[in-house]
Amino acid sequence: MIKRIRKAVFPVAGLGTRFLPATKAVPKEMLNIVDRPILQHVVEEAIEAGIEHFCFVTGRNKGVIEDHFDMSYELEDTLKRRGKNKEHAAMTAMLPAAGATSFTRQQAPLGLGHAIWCAREIIGDEPFAVLLPDMITMSAKGSQRRCMKQCVEAYGQHGGNIIAVETVPPADTHKYGVVSIGADNGHSFEITGMVEKPPQGTAPSNLIISGRYILQPEIFELLGAVGTGAGGEIQLTDGMKALAAKQEFHGVRFDGRTFDCGSKLGFLSANVAFALEDADIADAFRAELKGALG
Ligand code: UTP
Repeated sequence: MIKRIRKAVFPVAGLGTRFLPATKAVPKEMLNIVDRPILQHVVEEAIEAGIEHFCFVTGRNKGVIEDHFDMSYELEDTLKRRGKNKEHAAMTAMLPAAGATSFTRQQAPLGLGHAIWCAREIIGDEPFAVLLPDMITMSAKGSQRRCMKQCVEAYGQHGGNIIAVETVPPADTHKYGVVSIGADNGHSFEITGMVEKPPQGTAPSNLIISGRYILQPEIFELLGAVGTGAGGEIQLTDGMKALAAKQEFHGVRFDGRTFDCGSKLGFLSANVAFALEDADIADAFRAELKGALG
C-alpha cells in the first residue's frame, strides 16, 4: 500500500539575486501577486492537494515568513471589533493549524538539493511533496486542480516518485533539467532519464522539470552523498538521478498555467493573470490594461 502524502517542503533560503534590489530586505517569496505573497499562493496549492504539515527551509533575513504563517493577534482582534469580517476571514482562512508548520535553516545557500536535505529530520521516513515557490500555478478554467493536486493524483496511480514537467520550445531546453520519456498515457509517463542543462540540440525531449515533486525519503541519504554539481551547488537533480537507479519516477504534464516568479517577466505575467481572475478588480483592471496598451 502506498503511503499518503502528508508533508511538504518549501525551500525558501535562496538569495533571490535576480530580483535585487527588491529582495535586499524582503524575501523573494514574500513579493506580492495581487493581494498575497507568492509563498501564500504556493501554500494554498499544497493545502488543496491535502498537505497537512508545512516545512519551510529558510535562511537569515527570512523571519517575516514565519510571522506571515502565524496569528497576528492584534490585527485579527482589531478587524473583528471593527466588523471587518471579510478582511478577517482573508487573514485567517489560510492559516495552517497550530503545530502544522516547521521552520529549519539552511545556514548557507549551498543549492536546492542541500535545502531539501535540511528537511530530513522533519520529514522522517515517509514520502513528501516539494514545492518551489519560484513557480506558481493556476488551474485550468473550471477546475480546482493546481499542479500539486495533479501530482498527488498521479502518485495515487503510480506510487514511487513524481515530477511535474512543462513543455518549452526546443531552443530553450539547454537552460533547464530535461527528462526522457518511456511508457506514456498522455497525462503522465514513465521517466527513463534526466539531464541537467543539456547542450543545445542534445535534449532527449522538450519536457523540463518545473518545480513540483513527490519524493521518497531515500532521497535524503543520496542528497547527503552527491556532493556539489553544476554551479558548485548541491543539485536536487543529481540526487534524483541517483534515486532513479533504484526507484521509479513518473512525469506529470500539468493541465493549467504556470508562472516563473523567479524572473521579472514571469512575476509580472502572474500579477496580470491573477488580477484578471480576481472578481473584485478584473473588469476595472481589464479596462486599465486596454487603456495602457492603447
Ligand atoms: P533559485 O536558484 O531559483 O533561487 O532556486 P535563488 O537562488 O533565490 O534566486 P536567484 O537565481 O539568485 O535570483 C529555486 C528555489 O530554491 C530555493 C530558493 O529560495 C528558490 O525558492 N533555494 C535555492 C534554497 O532554498 N537554497 C539554495 O541554496 C538555493
